[in-house]
Amino acid sequence: MTDSSPTAGQQTRSMTIPLVAFAAGAAVAVLIGVFGRAHDPTLDGTTTLGFHTVIQMKVVVTTVIGVLVVLQLLGALVLYGKLPITAPPWLGKAHRASGATALVLAVFVAYHCLWALGLEYGHLADGEKVGARTVIHGVLGCSVFGAAVVKVAAVRAKRAPGWFLPVAGGLLFTLFVAVVLTSAVWYYANYGLPDSHGY
Ligand code: HEM
Repeated sequence: MTDSSPTAGQQTRSMTIPLVAFAAGAAVAVLIGVFGRAHDPTLDGTTTLGFHTVIQMKVVVTTVIGVLVVLQLLGALVLYGKLPITAPPWLGKAHRASGATALVLAVFVAYHCLWALGLEYGHLADGEKVGARTVIHGVLGCSVFGAAVVKVAAVRAKRAPGWFLPVAGGLLFTLFVAVVLTSAVWYYANYGLPDSHGY
């Protein structure tokens, strides 16, 4: 009788993929944070895309990201058969396309955060104390891109354990939601819709 259970070598190899991916993701998040501290914040090289301020532009683009991220979760649940809906044949491609769009938009917004403001904590140059929300938002913002590295590895890896892709996707979704809540949703709650009077 043949033994179909995985050998110790195969088990080690499959666990190696998530471990290396999480280490690479952590390194990416830390490097982004280090850049956010080392770079001198400036509005040079940023755009408002026609909105009144850079912040308002980020709020609007982040809202689009938030909608795409929720669609990603719903799409993933349908693809995994967790909702009582049969997945249409185009759903896989649409899921990949909207996920890639959300990531590209997030890179665009994060560039404007990192370049114009940086990773803020402690006190600003003018002595103003940085609030907890801002610190949490910055750390989460850096972590999103580490989680994106893990997620891309999980999609590409053929021999990783079955839990890796849903865990990587769930982590990226959770971090995205937290980043949107600590920025755009916070803005709407405090300033309402972006307009010529807002900040
Ligand atoms: C790369 C890491 C990131 C860092 C270091 C960072 C940092 C910051 C900082 C310091 C602010 C100003 C907060 C304040 O004035 O109190 C800010 C604002 C904002 N960020 Fe980020 N951010 C990052 C990533 C992101 C990402 C990925 C998104 C969107 C998905 C985002 C969306 C926003 C928005 C909409 C605002 C304006 C509302 C606000 O002032 O909080 N950020 N960010």
